[in-house]
Amino acid sequence: MFDRLKELEEKGLLRDLKLLRQDGVYIEYKGKTYLNLSSNDYLGISGIREFQREFLDSLDVNQFIMGALSSRLLTGNSICTGNFENYLSGLYGRECLAYNSGYHANAGILPAIAEKSDLIVADKFVHASIIDGIKLCPCEMKRYKHNDYNDLERILEQSAGKYKSVYIVTESIFSMDGDTADLERLVELKEKYRAKLYVDEAHAFGVAGESGLGCAYHKQLVNRIEYIICTLGKAGASEGAFVVCDFATKQWLINRSRTLIFTTAAPPVNILWSHFIIKKIVEMKKEREHLQLITKRLRDKLAGYNITGDSHIIPIITGENDKCISLARKMQSKGIWVMPVRYPSVPAGQARIRLSLTAAMSNEQTDMVYESILA
Ligand SMILES: Cc1ncc(COP(=O)(O)O)c(C=O)c1O
Repeated sequence: MFDRLKELEEKGLLRDLKLLRQDGVYIEYKGKTYLNLSSNDYLGISGIREFQREFLDSLDVNQFIMGALSSRLLTGNSICTGNFENYLSGLYGRECLAYNSGYHANAGILPAIAEKSDLIVADKFVHASIIDGIKLCPCEMKRYKHNDYNDLERILEQSAGKYKSVYIVTESIFSMDGDTADLERLVELKEKYRAKLYVDEAHAFGVAGESGLGCAYHKQLVNRIEYIICTLGKAGASEGAFVVCDFATKQWLINRSRTLIFTTAAPPVNILWSHFIIKKIVEMKKEREHLQLITKRLRDKLAGYNITGDSHIIPIITGENDKCISLARKMQSKGIWVMPVRYPSVPAGQARIRLSLTAAMSNEQTDMVYESILA
């Protein structure tokens, strides 16, 4: 093992766990305070202490809420989980099923639904949790070039009539590139080729659309996409995920999705917080608007750099690992907390600094980020 660790170190790929304290837009590390550009707290909820206080005051401490004590199919399916799923169903107008995390959802949904005679066609840049789920599927998998729908159509055309079902898999806002899938085009294609569409909204939930319910909701496509996955650990400032789907799919997943069945249910306190915070999120229009404004401000300033995408996630592509590490160090020395993103989180040779903006950042703080790159 030591020689393998040494090899990682020599390639600039060795990672470690840092002990940090997060506080709103700031992060504290080894006694120094940094502006945090690496958090997924896109709406800045962690800094809104009134929400936390209001939530804690609402809890009934005469009930045990700190652990679920069992899986959902045994005794862990608390009434609050049912209430939470009903609330979500009311928002989306479809069935919803909660999972313990986005990783659980992605690792457990496709393996439950895909059969041997099926085909999965996934965008080249989908998240590792989706890839892990696909690896557990008994069927064939093909990848299409990132957001390249001509390439996708070529694969769909070639595959027509050869498989029982074809699943197209994408993210809506891509986590490492900050760009956005064209869901309208994807729906058109999946309808033309009678495929099914699976969309991971991890980085869009809370952010996209007037009520923050994601790109599919914003584009009025909820009823035309078979599986929409929203995660709660990012803009939701919680932990967990849910899938928006039809009734039969929900029942099937309850019966066959191993990451739902063979794990202890999320603690009621976590479900109650998720429920509480989504009620706030749908109202946080002002925060979403501000996030859009500072995104435009920083993207405009960075126009001369190798940046990608169009969202609040702004990657500066440096290519080589050492360039990425030295840019991260420079920014850190100016009080900006960024981490170099390297292989295997992104393809080799495409190392990057991933700037992730939150609605709690002011214009001045956004400008500080730009200045730290110039310095
Ligand atoms: C696109 C995407 N899907 C799923 C996940 C996993 O979600 P969770 O952190 O809730 O396990 C992530 C997290 O990094 C992600 O970026």
